Amino acid sequence: MHFSEEKPITPEEEDLLFRMLRQLDLAPEASQRSTATALGISLGRLNALLRATVEAGLVTIGERAGPDKRHRFSYSITSRGAAEQLRLRDKFLSRKFAEYDALHAELTGTSSGLNPFQHRTNPMQNNLAPISELYVSYESSQKLKVEAADLVSWDLTPRQICDLELLMNGGFSPLKGFLSEEDYNGVVENMRLADGSLWPMPITLDVSQGFADKIEPGQDIALRDQEGVILAILSVDDKFLPNKAREAEKVFGSDDEAHPAVNYLHNVAGPVYLGGPITGIQQPVHYDFRARRDTPNELRAYFRKLGWRKIVAFQTRNPLHRAHQELTFRAAKECQANLLIHPVVGMTKPGDVDHFTRVRCYEAVLDKYPAATTTMSLLPLAMRMAGPREAVWHGLIRKNHGVTHFIVGRDHAGPGKNSAGEDFYGPYDAQDLFREHEAEMGIEMVPFKHMVFVQERAQYEPIDEIADKDKVTILNISGTELRRRLAEGLEIPDWFSFKDVVKELRRTKPPRSKQGFTVFFTGFSGSGKSTIANALMVKLMEMGGRPTTLLDGDIVRKNLSSELGFSKEHRDLNIRRIGYVASEITKNGGIAICAPIAPYATTRRAVREDIEQYGAFVEVHVATSIEECEKRDRKGLYKLAREGKIKEFTGISDPYDVPANPELSLDTETVDVDYCAQQVLLKLESMGLIAGS
Ligand code: PPS
Repeated sequence: MHFSEEKPITPEEEDLLFRMLRQLDLAPEASQRSTATALGISLGRLNALLRATVEAGLVTIGERAGPDKRHRFSYSITSRGAAEQLRLRDKFLSRKFAEYDALHAELTGTSSGLNPFQHRTNPMQNNLAPISELYVSYESSQKLKVEAADLVSWDLTPRQICDLELLMNGGFSPLKGFLSEEDYNGVVENMRLADGSLWPMPITLDVSQGFADKIEPGQDIALRDQEGVILAILSVDDKFLPNKAREAEKVFGSDDEAHPAVNYLHNVAGPVYLGGPITGIQQPVHYDFRARRDTPNELRAYFRKLGWRKIVAFQTRNPLHRAHQELTFRAAKECQANLLIHPVVGMTKPGDVDHFTRVRCYEAVLDKYPAATTTMSLLPLAMRMAGPREAVWHGLIRKNHGVTHFIVGRDHAGPGKNSAGEDFYGPYDAQDLFREHEAEMGIEMVPFKHMVFVQERAQYEPIDEIADKDKVTILNISGTELRRRLAEGLEIPDWFSFKDVVKELRRTKPPRSKQGFTVFFTGFSGSGKSTIANALMVKLMEMGGRPTTLLDGDIVRKNLSSELGFSKEHRDLNIRRIGYVASEITKNGGIAICAPIAPYATTRRAVREDIEQYGAFVEVHVATSIEECEKRDRKGLYKLAREGKIKEFTGISDPYDVPANPELSLDTETVDVDYCAQQVLLKLESMGLIAGS
């Protein structure tokens, strides 16, 4: 709740309140007398104002250090006060703008001609003027850090850290925090905040039910990174339960969990959303590529310094190859603009080339651009792969970074295929939606059709501009084909990419036969998982070449997970631990063989996603029926389960999600263990994971 809503005040009082909060933010230790002098008001008036703001929770009273006994108290701004200060600053500027417009009309007979100012949009229409951030001054941030020790803390997820960084540095302007329910509903339903501003993506703080139960609107919470460093304070205004299926349908156009963001929404994000303004304390720490990271204001300042007026940005989550270079050259030429290569280094689609490798690739390509006209900056965005909506979102974010033109190509931010094997969005849906909102967004789209290589002319051309399609040879290598060639160590032609880029990609992605991988057996207790896994391990060790580790269900439960039981929560934790160890083994080039029951499909999928960043994940369903397992009952556990002496027993009194698309399904009822292990080996060979030396 805002101070002004509790006690309606006049615009003059509001201006004074804004100036006082600003003064306290800039000089929290100043004496009352010097604050009053700075504001040009009497001590009495200042005192009255301070009392009211202390009551409203915008300012706190503290003891002042130092020898000056006469002024024992110091007044400092709270996080709520800092949020209020930002809100009042917008209102203040908005009023000043209207006054200027009126004065202009009075003196010249016409309006100023500047765009009418809405208080939530960036007041400076100039793309190079500073944009507002949500950070408090250094002095206030030091105080808030200390005070935050008393607040309840939320440890941000990696995605929330990305969102918070762009909220705080103005990349998500006009947002001032995580969305309230009213803003969220507007964004989900019609891409607009409650005040009508265009905003296509719900930026929400999802939390667990347990955490939400401890929080009430009106409370401040400390937002911390994964090491516990405080980054911001959220003044919670709103706590609500989203309709996630509706969010998925409206924002991503489908509730199909094959969409990475829909999967995230249902299986990773917490059930409750908290909304409210943010007070920025410090930006998340990055140790990598620091010189290449710029906030919107740093980029604006850079453009100002170099005298760049028109800037066209290229968004990417992939390494740059020749087609991209041609496309960006053409775009810059077409709009007579400087070029900003603006790759995403926050979170992209699971399975993408990691950003460390990509940035090394970008740096190699950057040499091919004229240094005086092109620059590169890294954007810490967590992508959602929302196609059309994502394109509009990317446009707004680039506008906030001082960019005037934005390239939207074929299938912009596309998530791939849905579970029926069809594309989620049409190839040019993103361009259509962008076009619809272009004028309002204040950034121009540079649309591009798919670029292909015309062999006879030895150059790239947009496919729709090739008039003699039937007479020329059109060459193209898709992303999937490129991955296959890299995985199998095959040739990547010069017309497709640059030598340095290919070298870099090969360095981090050696052929599959030299990469680590995980074989993940799943099936009922007694299905034969461990026996087959053991046989497989021995065969792989006989072949040699890569270290092999067996993470058998029973053994893991004796060591890694000795304190866990068999509730859903504990089973998930157990599988996540196995997945974590397997992903580390895979990352470091080894072979991990896992053999737990792993009854839940969502947990198996999460583990798959963790591992596939580093190498292959081969899911093997040991499909022995429950009847057969019970008949075998090697450990006598089924009997005990039937007698009710073991609770939550998989297949008897607990669920098992049969894998829908395992890489391999083994029937153990009619064939022996040796043959099963052979089948796995053949599968590994067909996937290129094992090869003759
Ligand atoms: S899970 O669900 O993946 O975490 O299970 P897992 O770690 O593979 O452990 C399964 C082994 O524990 C024994 N056991 C039970 N299994 C299922 N349900 C219940 N309630 C249970 N209690 C004990 C069982 O012997 C499993 O061994 P395997 O190797 O699968 O036969």
